Amino acid sequence: MKILVTGGAGYIGSVVVEQLVADGESVVVLDNLAQGHRAAVHPRATFVEADLLNRPAIDAVMGEHRPDAVMHFASHTLVGESMQQPFLYLGENIVGGLNLLQSMIEHGVHRFILSSTANLFDAPERIPIDEQERIVPGSPYGESKHILEQMLYWLDRVHGLRYAALRYFNAAGASSERGEDHHPELHLIPLVLQVALGQRADVTIFGDDYPTPDGTCVRDYIHIVDLAQAHVLALRALDGGSWTYNLGNGQGFSVHQVIETARRITGHSIPAKVGPRRPGDPATLVASSEKIRRELGWRPRFPNLEQIVETAWNWHRAHPNGYKS
Ligand SMILES: NC(=O)c1ccc[n+]([C@@H]2O[C@H](COP(=O)([O-])OP(=O)(O)OC[C@H]3O[C@@H](n4cnc5c(N)ncnc54)[C@H](O)[C@@H]3O)[C@@H](O)[C@H]2O)c1
Repeated sequence: MKILVTGGAGYIGSVVVEQLVADGESVVVLDNLAQGHRAAVHPRATFVEADLLNRPAIDAVMGEHRPDAVMHFASHTLVGESMQQPFLYLGENIVGGLNLLQSMIEHGVHRFILSSTANLFDAPERIPIDEQERIVPGSPYGESKHILEQMLYWLDRVHGLRYAALRYFNAAGASSERGEDHHPELHLIPLVLQVALGQRADVTIFGDDYPTPDGTCVRDYIHIVDLAQAHVLALRALDGGSWTYNLGNGQGFSVHQVIETARRITGHSIPAKVGPRRPGDPATLVASSEKIRRELGWRPRFPNLEQIVETAWNWHRAHPNGYKS
């Protein structure tokens, strides 16, 4: 297959590209490099620097490469930023997705995978969170993914688009070659590892009075390689229909547990200080991934926190300045 990967120079997209190339697929990456890194793109993938807001540029890629499927990672991705600058999300994320989908339909491309999010579930009634849970977006970011999911439903009905919406919880860890290098970095595991590398003095815990076993927020960390494998399985399943899956480890780890694990693995004391809660942070977010396990046979190979932190640590130690190293 030939697969167009938008956002394939970013953290998750680049690891999915690595997996697709290893499986022998032909891959074209479209990325504007606003967050991504040229060096993260697998050398066997074709790279096109373009912005999804530029519809003629998308049409040119679609016309030249005629992909069999599109995986759509390109997005503004920060919950907090979306509360400050909602139009980046309700505007650019939607318009970029719409441009891509319209161009696909006009070029006869009918397979699509969307990076969706756990931020659809701001007020979960049951933990672990399954696909029956009521959708309550937690921010304009979550809303932008919700709107794209709804578009997919209609494009399936009207144009026969086959799609998978994969709602990731917290992507973490690294492959042997690719890891997390966001600017600014706001994700817990890389922040903690930056302390271990001597690049930050300490890490802040946002609230330790949540109704969780140790008082800190509990999140579901899914290893990036397991996430990549889910995309490969979803791609193969598209000829059988359209699918929506929650995608996590099924286990929650608290902020304290992450820091403790990083202390053990790095041998660094990793000083931590407690700050106030951040608005809009739910106490616990853990996915039920029963549906994707049952229907697609997905099984995480790296479900425990040690493996997740260790692979991230190996990558950060080898690339202390990220892709600039
Ligand atoms: N990281 C997570 O834990 C997580 C969790 C849930 C969902 N997601 C979703 O997964 C996807 C990938 O996340 P990530 O952490 O790899 O983010 P990332 O920022 O590392 O990657 C996104 C990529 O998209 C590119 N991009 C952004 N806007 C673009 C545009 N208009 N045109 C072309 N390229 C553009 C960026 O340059 C970047 O390379 C996103 O859609 C995100 O919302 C991520």
